Amino acid sequence: MKNRVIVTGGAGYIGSHTAVELAQSGYTPVLLDNFSNSTPAALDGLREILGFEPEFEQVDCADKSALFAAMEHIASRGTVEGIIHFAAFKAVGESTQEPLKYYANNVASTVHLLEAAAHFNLTEFVFSSSCTVYGQPEHIPVDEEAPIRRAESPYGYTKQACERILADFCASGYPMKAALLRYFNPIGAHPSSKIGELPLGHPNNLIPYLTQAAAGLRDPLTVFGNDYPTPDGTCIRDYIHVMDLARAHVAALQWLKNQPPTCEPFNLGTGQGNSVLEVIQAFERATGVAVPHAIGARRPGDVTAIFADATKAQNVLGWTSEKTLEEALLDAWNWQQALNN
Ligand code: UD1
Repeated sequence: MKNRVIVTGGAGYIGSHTAVELAQSGYTPVLLDNFSNSTPAALDGLREILGFEPEFEQVDCADKSALFAAMEHIASRGTVEGIIHFAAFKAVGESTQEPLKYYANNVASTVHLLEAAAHFNLTEFVFSSSCTVYGQPEHIPVDEEAPIRRAESPYGYTKQACERILADFCASGYPMKAALLRYFNPIGAHPSSKIGELPLGHPNNLIPYLTQAAAGLRDPLTVFGNDYPTPDGTCIRDYIHVMDLARAHVAALQWLKNQPPTCEPFNLGTGQGNSVLEVIQAFERATGVAVPHAIGARRPGDVTAIFADATKAQNVLGWTSEKTLEEALLDAWNWQQALNN
């Protein structure tokens, strides 16, 4: 197997889609997951898309000895090129209720993976970060020069902390090459509908809730506030198709290969902001299905508006998003229907 790349959180939403892009670009994904927020069914879908059984280790990256044992096993089967680290908890609200769970998992996993990287002489590391590191930026679109603001939530702080840990490690003399990929709002699913976002329980994020409400599986969608200082009063985000996002990880790996030791942040978004009401309208246009919804109170901690200046990813990585909001919403809906069946 050539060009093996470790993908932590490989059974998760973005990890599984990235595994597909890796395989299509000549890499061999080696998946790690503990199924804490995913299910083995994702691996079935992946196998169908890839046409082979991906290498998989069931392991919790926060458990250092288990992680090292898994790495040992992986290394015994051949060389590894690098690590893409997705595995983390990501529910903003839950992180305010259970901050230690977030620090223990998200921060410890990153530290252990860097220790493992050093132990196994791996020098390429792609980190799954978030636009949440900017808080509510002073200027939008926001670029990578914008200041890192005090995090609104423990979740957000784990992303800031892990970025800092990576930067410190890169500056420590170990020849690490790291890309910090700051995602805006990933949505949609693989066009085959064999993998997609699988929120266990009540969905916190807009699109999984919206598709479940449209399918009649949930109460009407609550639009969290329509009194924000935006054109229609609802919050604005940059919704990016998960397959576009997945492609950016391949571009980052290819770029890192020819770099000296470095630690570089990249925004990954479309550069376009859409309000919650615009997303509902786009979904209805794309699918012909009505979204039952009602206006509700603001959600604590929500920023009013954020979207990406992704010029750096374009100039440096040669990457831009390609799919439209409607395509992403149609793929999300097709995935929801596949789940129903
Ligand atoms: C946030 C973070 C993102 C992080 C993600 C993890 C920011 C700007 N974004 O995404 O970096 O990775 O959490 O989960 O901090 N909405 C509704 N009704 C719903 C659900 C959502 O109106 O039932 C609205 C929200 O108010 C928001 C938009 O939809 O305006 C998107 O919400 P969501 O999908 O939860 O993502 P963010 O909060 O933007």
